[in-house]
Amino acid sequence: MSKVHVFDHPLIQHKLSILRDKNTSVKEFRELVSEIAMLMCFEATRDLPLEEVQVETPVAMATCRQIAGKKLAVVPILRAGLGMVDGMVTMMPNVKVGHIGLFRDPDTLAPVKYYFKMPPDIAERDAIIVDPMLATGGSAAAATTFLKEVGVKHIKLMSVIGAPEGVSLMQKEHPDVDIYVAALDDHLNEHGYIVPGLGDAGDRIFGTK
Ligand code: PRP
Ligand code: URA
Repeated sequence: MSKVHVFDHPLIQHKLSILRDKNTSVKEFRELVSEIAMLMCFEATRDLPLEEVQVETPVAMATCRQIAGKKLAVVPILRAGLGMVDGMVTMMPNVKVGHIGLFRDPDTLAPVKYYFKMPPDIAERDAIIVDPMLATGGSAAAATTFLKEVGVKHIKLMSVIGAPEGVSLMQKEHPDVDIYVAALDDHLNEHGYIVPGLGDAGDRIFGTK
């Protein structure tokens, strides 16, 4: 069974409370999603392997540790996942980015795929899927399946808010994928929105409503 990591860091919780506020502007919302992703990135990359290197300081040689050339890809689910990319790339400037385009059919809530573009060596990379909302889990589960189909072996999912329904679906369909969220909310409403949630993440990031 996969692990669910809920971030209780005060900075993340503070930013999340502003993010949830319906009066938060598009500009601020976009900045906050990016900042939260940056903070979450710290914890989600905690298990990256390190190797020792020798560094000459102005004073002496120092034995230091650097990331051991781990190949990673950040994979946003379009559209809303794009809002988390900047924060991840700020922390990992050389990370490769793959894109999966999915939208939820408004009637069935089933994910519909419209775009899939990965770095050519994606099968050799570990992937972190980013999407602010894990609601029914349909989008995250489908994205995970698509990545496995092209050979990705180690996948993590990072979302700002998760619903119990989405966590359950991911754990059922992809028990090997650890989940990182800033909050686990209460339930989904009849339209598949997370309650209390923050509304439609894509619309709030891109100002489309
Ligand atoms: C939202 C969100 C997730 C999905 C989550 O995307 O960004 O991708 O819904 O819902 P699920 O867990 O029930 O699949 P949406 O379909 O609204 O598309 P958008 O990002 O383009 O607005
Ligand atoms: N997608 C969103 O953007 N928000 C929700 O609450 C659920 C799915």
